[in-house]
Amino acid sequence: MSTVRPLHNLVLIGFMGTGKSSVGQAVAGQLHFSFLDTDQVIEQRVGKSVGEIFAGDGEPAFRDWERRIVVELAARTKTVIATGGGLPADDANLASLKTHALVVCLWASPEKIWERVRGQSHRPLLNDLDPLAKIRRLLEVREPYYRQADVLVNTEMRSVRDVAQQVTHHFLAARAEGR
Ligand code: S3P
Repeated sequence: MSTVRPLHNLVLIGFMGTGKSSVGQAVAGQLHFSFLDTDQVIEQRVGKSVGEIFAGDGEPAFRDWERRIVVELAARTKTVIATGGGLPADDANLASLKTHALVVCLWASPEKIWERVRGQSHRPLLNDLDPLAKIRRLLEVREPYYRQADVLVNTEMRSVRDVAQQVTHHFLAARAEGR
């Protein structure tokens, strides 16, 4: 929590279904920042949905896009950035985000994540025979990356508004500390 760096932006990382986009939009409103979602940026750039990119070009092509977008994000200011769930599971991506942003991880248990994402079909990694087991496996692999966030915020049993207020508070406090 004591890294000295310019906090031009706020980045939300975390697993699918932890509320990065909804919390991010609320935080952007509170801070009067712009809001950007890396999945949306990639979809606009490629002209295909994330599902179509995974199906047509493969996951490695999608990860390449993520790495390219991460480099561009360093030029942003006053932006709340919601990342795809797998984007920070890459040392270079995480290191780059940490040069210009406070990185906040939204956390939830596998069961809660499954409860939130079931019934949604746009996440290719969860098109699995046993999605809950897949969530557990992916979360286990990604946890060491998620834990490198500057702040970890639990989202279980809490409203988007509540979580957003806590995230905004952390950001303003970190800026006041001169981090
Ligand atoms: C992914 C999460 C998705 C999207 C893609 C892969 C992942 O984003 O980037 O389906 O690897 O966890 P959300 O976390 O916004 O659902």
